[in-house]
Amino acid sequence: MKRYLVTGGAGFIGSNYVRNLLNKEKDVSVTNLDKLTYAGNLDNLRDLENDSRHHFVKGDIGDAELIDGLVREADIVVNFAAESHVDRSIGKPDDFITTDIFGAFVLLEAARKHGVEKFIQISTDEVYGSTEGASFVENDPLMPSSPYSASKAGADRLAYSYFVTYDVPVIITRCSNNFGPYQYPEKLIPLFVTNAMDDKHLPIYGDGKYIRDWIHVIDHCDAVDFLIANGKLGEVYNIGGGNERTNLEITAIILEKLGKPESLKTYVEDRLGHDRRYSVNCAKINALGWKPNFEFKTAIQDTIQWYENNRWWWERIKSGEYLEYYKAHYGQ
Ligand code: NAD
Ligand code: DAU
Repeated sequence: MKRYLVTGGAGFIGSNYVRNLLNKEKDVSVTNLDKLTYAGNLDNLRDLENDSRHHFVKGDIGDAELIDGLVREADIVVNFAAESHVDRSIGKPDDFITTDIFGAFVLLEAARKHGVEKFIQISTDEVYGSTEGASFVENDPLMPSSPYSASKAGADRLAYSYFVTYDVPVIITRCSNNFGPYQYPEKLIPLFVTNAMDDKHLPIYGDGKYIRDWIHVIDHCDAVDFLIANGKLGEVYNIGGGNERTNLEITAIILEKLGKPESLKTYVEDRLGHDRRYSVNCAKINALGWKPNFEFKTAIQDTIQWYENNRWWWERIKSGEYLEYYKAHYGQ
């Protein structure tokens, strides 16, 4: 039985990852460590409550004593835990430095001490910075431009250094923008879908012509598993959906699907240091045999439908009800 330690597994991608892994593999156990910040949500894991292969631990990846004990019992570590929202990093970078960099360091130190089979550092395509020309390849220079992406770049390179210096079996992934169920409604797609459903304005930063490459979250999760099985240690792999769209195009899809008027679009002040376009070249992972399965047109419609069908989930977050529930359970 393979023993996974998944960090950040109560967040958007982490919870999808854990569910997908348990659905695919019978002979695995997953220890899911999450600090339950504002973005961590036990509602994301409700359907796993009775699965004896899943053990949830509330804790911080920066807590060296806790991490030491958990990594000692793990074969595979997948580090999703991070502060993940660019706008929050612009407002207050502090937690990004402590979690995204120092937290990764604590995990890597434990992996060095105890030895693990694989250590997957979930990085991001944002570490390359913006490109208006060619798509980035893995050995392009890193030019992160927000405190978020700079903290992720720090962890990305720290993980690599642990491979080179200490032989920790690290693989680093740099994925593009994910979409799908359980994404916190501060990110573009769930924010715009849930606002539009309630006839609220959709705040478009700047001219709305910023470009992101969208990938369904399950394609990202499958790519991580594919790399655990087939990736080369010490290597970086870009993961992308091949679906570059402007924010205005995404907005139009949402309004059309929900039958809402153009008048909900509201142009607002731009994000500071806003990266114009992210784009990754995925030839390296494609050459190993991985490609995304989800077709963008259908997947985005299904995702919008998921938020329509699961009002209970995002209303609890947006109304503050989840926070109340959380305080009642954890007293903070
Ligand atoms: P998210 O904000 O939804 O989830 C992050 C999770 O980490 C939350 O559950 C939070 O409680 C937990 N966490 C935060 N600080 C912690 C700490 N100190 N200790 C333990 N847990 C902590 O983010 P997400 O969108 O699911 O992203 C997950 C990872 O994937 C991040 O590392 C992010 O950088 C990376 N990534 C995200 C995307 C994307 O499009 N969302 C794309 C590429 C890479
Ligand atoms: O590229 C991968 C990254 O994608 C991940 O590493 C990050 O964790 C994840 O948050 C995401 O970062 P972005 O900044 O690209 O995602 P966000 O959803 O915040 O914004 C997407 C685009 O939409 C971006 O150009 C900013 C714009 N936007 C966003 C919001 C929240 C708006 O125009 N209005 C908004 O209200």
